[in-house]
Amino acid sequence: MPLSIVEFFLKLNQFDFRLLSVIEVLMAKYEIVPIEEIAAYIHYSEKKVQKALYRLRQYKLIFMAQRHYLGAALTFIGYDALALKALVEKRIVAQIGPEVGSGKESDIRLAVDDENDEFILKIHRLGKLDFRATKRSRAFIAEKSHISPLYESRLSAEREFKALSDLSEAGISVPKPIAQNRHIVAMHIIIGQDLYRIKKNEFESKKEILTLFINIIHEMQGAVKVGYIHGDLSEYNIRLNEDNYPVFFDWPQCIETQSEQAERILTRDLDNILNYFKKKFQLTIKMNVSELLLKYFDNLETPSVL
Ligand SMILES: Nc1ncnc2c1ncn2[C@@H]1O[C@H](COP(=O)(O)OP(=O)(O)OP(=O)(O)O)[C@@H](O)[C@H]1O
Ligand SMILES: [Mg+2]
Repeated sequence: MPLSIVEFFLKLNQFDFRLLSVIEVLMAKYEIVPIEEIAAYIHYSEKKVQKALYRLRQYKLIFMAQRHYLGAALTFIGYDALALKALVEKRIVAQIGPEVGSGKESDIRLAVDDENDEFILKIHRLGKLDFRATKRSRAFIAEKSHISPLYESRLSAEREFKALSDLSEAGISVPKPIAQNRHIVAMHIIIGQDLYRIKKNEFESKKEILTLFINIIHEMQGAVKVGYIHGDLSEYNIRLNEDNYPVFFDWPQCIETQSEQAERILTRDLDNILNYFKKKFQLTIKMNVSELLLKYFDNLETPSVL
């Protein structure tokens, strides 16, 4: 039975966590870490290690597989336990609350800090841990050609945290990041509603709709100025806050304005926004990427590639 997050901390002892982090370290070298190596690393007998590992497997924190040796690897649940423990120790997280959203590639949870202030934990989950796939591949990863789902998820969280940090520092309307550990990003909550959920009649006038459009374009331009293009911008990744101002979230796939694909991706983002206003409000606005970059801001320095 997998443990709930709270149970991790009640049921797991120091030795359990030590084992989980040793497996994590050795997973840089092995897809399935030989028990022999784990035991040698921490100077314990293989028997004692094996016994503790069976317990961790019962909680689904690791999985074990028999190759020409017996080995173990972290599951996402085990990776969650390590990341959450680190965030608790850094006093970022005091308590973890319910899931408030679930994307295709993440779980979104509420959490509170020592002061009882609520914030969001975005737990990135990319790819799937496929037991069968690992059977076919070699246990020892000579080159980093195989990227494990855990590692991929961590890279995704790192990318998102970096973008959120740069953008929020520059005053762009994004959730303010708080911390990142492994595949988890802690960030401020955007109190409000996802744009795709908002009904047409919630807008009082055409002017209000146009203001929203202008604000979205303003934020897209601002992000470009900082060097970022969202890359998956649509009504699904924009929330309106309490002042009805748009906040852009979900940044791991963002690209830099220097990228060769910058113009294509920015065009796609802009088209998504134009289509949303057309479909939802029958508002046809003609605008292309160069207009997006120049129309409202004379002082905007256009990045070289665009
Ligand atoms: N900072 C936040 N404050 C409030 N709600 C949030 C926040 N971040 C995410 N959410 C909620 O969680 C949902 C999923 O978030 P997000 O889009 O970042 O995840 P995702 O896994 O990348 O999703 P998908 O792949 O489906 O686009 C959002 O639609 C939103 O309702
Ligand atoms: Mg999303």
